[in-house]
Amino acid sequence: MSSATEPLRALLLESIHSDAVASLEKNGYAVELLDRALDEDELIARVAGVHILGIRSKTTITDAVLAAATDLLAVGAFCIGTNQIDLSAAAQRGVAVFNAPFSNTRSVVELVVAELIALTRRLMEKNSSMHAGVWDKSAEGAHEVRGRRLGIVGYGNIGSQLSVLAESLGMSVFFYDTADKLALGNARRCASMEELLAVSDVVTLHVDGRPGNSGLFGEAEFARMRPGSLFLNLSRGFVVDHGALRKHIESGHLAGAAIDVFPQEPKGRGDEFVSELRGLPNVIITPHIGGSTEEAQQDIGQFVAGKLQDFVATGNTALSVNVPAVSLPAPAAGHRLTHLHRNTPGVLATINGILADHDVNIEGQLLGTRGEIGYVITDIGTQYTTDVLEQLRALPNTVRLRLLS
Ligand SMILES: NC(=O)c1ccc[n+]([C@@H]2O[C@H](COP(=O)([O-])OP(=O)(O)OC[C@H]3O[C@@H](n4cnc5c(N)ncnc54)[C@H](O)[C@@H]3O)[C@@H](O)[C@H]2O)c1
Repeated sequence: MSSATEPLRALLLESIHSDAVASLEKNGYAVELLDRALDEDELIARVAGVHILGIRSKTTITDAVLAAATDLLAVGAFCIGTNQIDLSAAAQRGVAVFNAPFSNTRSVVELVVAELIALTRRLMEKNSSMHAGVWDKSAEGAHEVRGRRLGIVGYGNIGSQLSVLAESLGMSVFFYDTADKLALGNARRCASMEELLAVSDVVTLHVDGRPGNSGLFGEAEFARMRPGSLFLNLSRGFVVDHGALRKHIESGHLAGAAIDVFPQEPKGRGDEFVSELRGLPNVIITPHIGGSTEEAQQDIGQFVAGKLQDFVATGNTALSVNVPAVSLPAPAAGHRLTHLHRNTPGVLATINGILADHDVNIEGQLLGTRGEIGYVITDIGTQYTTDVLEQLRALPNTVRLRLLS
């Protein structure tokens, strides 16, 4: 850890938003910003002495990188996904990982709204005709969204925000979620997906990526949709059978669709996009851009920078993706001990035994566990000795002990 004269160091890769840099610098961090990803060897050469590492999707954090990062406290994934990080290895080494799970949800919702109006007005076909020099002025097949019934499958962060915006457009909202969810506004909960499909003029999927959702929407579900209805998927590619969707568009059973996510997506910009959905009328296909806006990038920068700094300053781990979520209000006085350990019975009792043996009063305490890892935050009075810290650090299950404040 740095001394009073040495600032904490942050290494931010892949052109992380300037708001994150500004926030860290404002709070005294020495920030090094690179516009590219680093490979494993480059990272290993640069991470010693770094306290906070910020990455996006193109940097891979392996156990070897973590082993070399001897001062690392936290990794910020300035994106949504965290597959590029060995989360378990990070937890085993006492490094908390944070991402930005909500920052781009509004962007997705706005794209859904844009697409559902565009599809309902058949804008894509009119636009293509105009570019081909055809003036096709007609109202046939074009509708208002007002008064139409929107069926939302998955009423989480995105589905529930969409519910509010869709109602403000005058739509009637129905939703189906496997979890108990509070219905916002006048939205009506459906007891099953079948019930939702039977009433909806537009069906939009916003389920999460759990393995059980693979193939969630296929031939049987498309067949149950109302004739002339619309289908949108901006959630995960593997939840929809695109062959079945194509069939129902070509037969005219569905009036249109908007798809942003695909079972196989090209790896890089400019690579060929292969899909059964190419070339269909009134089908909007977009390259997984639902959450891709400058506003979302800015929000991600602010959000993740905030989580990292809060963790370093207070030990709070709310929304961490790899260590137990534990948050205690900052103590008015005294000190805070954070103890990350291998989750075995009796660790809390042992910690408290050591504190009691040294007459250290506990003023607040919270324990959380997550799989093999346990994390306890303990606020203590001002009296403690280095002996207490040494004993806690020497416990066989201790992964990392930090003394804050
Ligand atoms: N297109 C993009 O660029 C983009 C951007 C951000 C998020 N996403 C994706 O959008 C989806 C939704 O994101 P979110 O933040 O709202 O997630 P969330 O976890 O907040 O909500 C998902 C909801 O779906 C429900 N659910 C899961 N399986 C279900 C099922 N089989 N039937 C009914 N309900 C089910 C869950 O209970 C939960 O309420 C995720 O898959 C996410 O990866 C896509």
